[in-house]
Amino acid sequence: MINVGIIGFGTVGTGTAKILLENKSVISERIGFDINLKKIADLDIKKSRGIKLPEGILTANADEILNDPEINIVIELIGGIHPAKELILKAIRNKKHVVTANKALIATEGNEILAEAEKHGVEVGFEASVAGGIPIIKIMKEGLVANRIMAVYGIINGTSNYILTKMTDEGIEFSDALKEAQRLGYAEADPTYDIEGIDSAHKLAILASLAYNIPFSFNDVYKEGITRITSQDIGFAGELGYKIKLLAIAKASDGKVELRVHPTMVPKDYLISKVDGVFNAIYVQGDAVGDTLYYGRGAGDMPTGSAVVSDIVDIGKKIVRSQESGVRSKEAVQIPRSKLKVKGIEDIEAMYYFRFTAFDKPGVLSSISGVLGSYNISITSVIQKGRSLGEAVPLIVLTHTAKEKDVIKAVAEIDRLSVVADKTLYIRVEGKEE
Ligand code: HSE
Repeated sequence: MINVGIIGFGTVGTGTAKILLENKSVISERIGFDINLKKIADLDIKKSRGIKLPEGILTANADEILNDPEINIVIELIGGIHPAKELILKAIRNKKHVVTANKALIATEGNEILAEAEKHGVEVGFEASVAGGIPIIKIMKEGLVANRIMAVYGIINGTSNYILTKMTDEGIEFSDALKEAQRLGYAEADPTYDIEGIDSAHKLAILASLAYNIPFSFNDVYKEGITRITSQDIGFAGELGYKIKLLAIAKASDGKVELRVHPTMVPKDYLISKVDGVFNAIYVQGDAVGDTLYYGRGAGDMPTGSAVVSDIVDIGKKIVRSQESGVRSKEAVQIPRSKLKVKGIEDIEAMYYFRFTAFDKPGVLSSISGVLGSYNISITSVIQKGRSLGEAVPLIVLTHTAKEKDVIKAVAEIDRLSVVADKTLYIRVEGKEE
């Protein structure tokens, strides 16, 4: 029997406890031993969580779990950096294995945590930190272990995907769609994390670490959110045959790796474009396997709890195996050791959608395209609608593959033209070049 203790009895803690209690016999039958939920610690042990717990299981003191010699695995589900980090380090130093759903913590402090775990010969499971119920960590670590990973494209923030879907389907603006997401309880406590790409960047740092064996590199991820996208952009993208998605991209590129989160125009007929609402999806391209796609719920008590329990079972199996054989598993933690460098955003290449805001008068298109041409940016399509002499109108331009470096310079120059009335917005475009 494996004893576990949960620290943090919020949404995911409750889902995990429910699964451990209600699916206990199903799990035991599958794995051949019992997982016993011995303790749950939370500062608030009065609040009803809608779940019937065995007598005496709750405690307000996390040390009752951390110092319990019978507890094999500590499950950290409080979220945030502090005191989650200190609790995890204490568990590790007490030679307890750890399971966590804490994406922000793993993305930013994961290197230190894994090094400590290696030192003490314990495991750290973080399946639940990325894309909730989709077992993507296991897929990267095990299912696709034979592959060189060419690219990972993820819709890994349900809130921003919900907002973009609402804007696409109902033609509403960003702020109204955000309010709806908050009303439904999808957004993080601080929605900035969702809408500015930070939550996706946390998860991407974790996925990239597994895909490219690099340390968790949250600070090196380029982050751009969805707050500047208007329903007009979504409309124009639609006319051009694309959908706008907040994509998290990790890509092998000239001996480096690109790590970026930004709104992306994706051809409407790509499977990932069809992932709508709060659902998550991750497309992984491996050199041996080719294209693969994983889809499911990225948040919520039960999907995330399902991922937490899968880590508990994995670690539990190793504990039982080593108890039976008397040999401790050697690969307790896999420390990512590749020295592969991350490519700066200014060094990437992509196709681009530009929304210029320009006065509708003769010669404007040629001034703008002249600047683009001088930076080697070649145009594939132009849309300009509505005629309002003397007023600024959107001018949409789609390009062939160009260098981001050139795009940055061209936009700075175009924004200084007297015929341009507002800052230019640009969106990177994925798909086959026309
Ligand atoms: N706020 C996150 C999301 C929750 O919207 O996907 C799951 O990490």
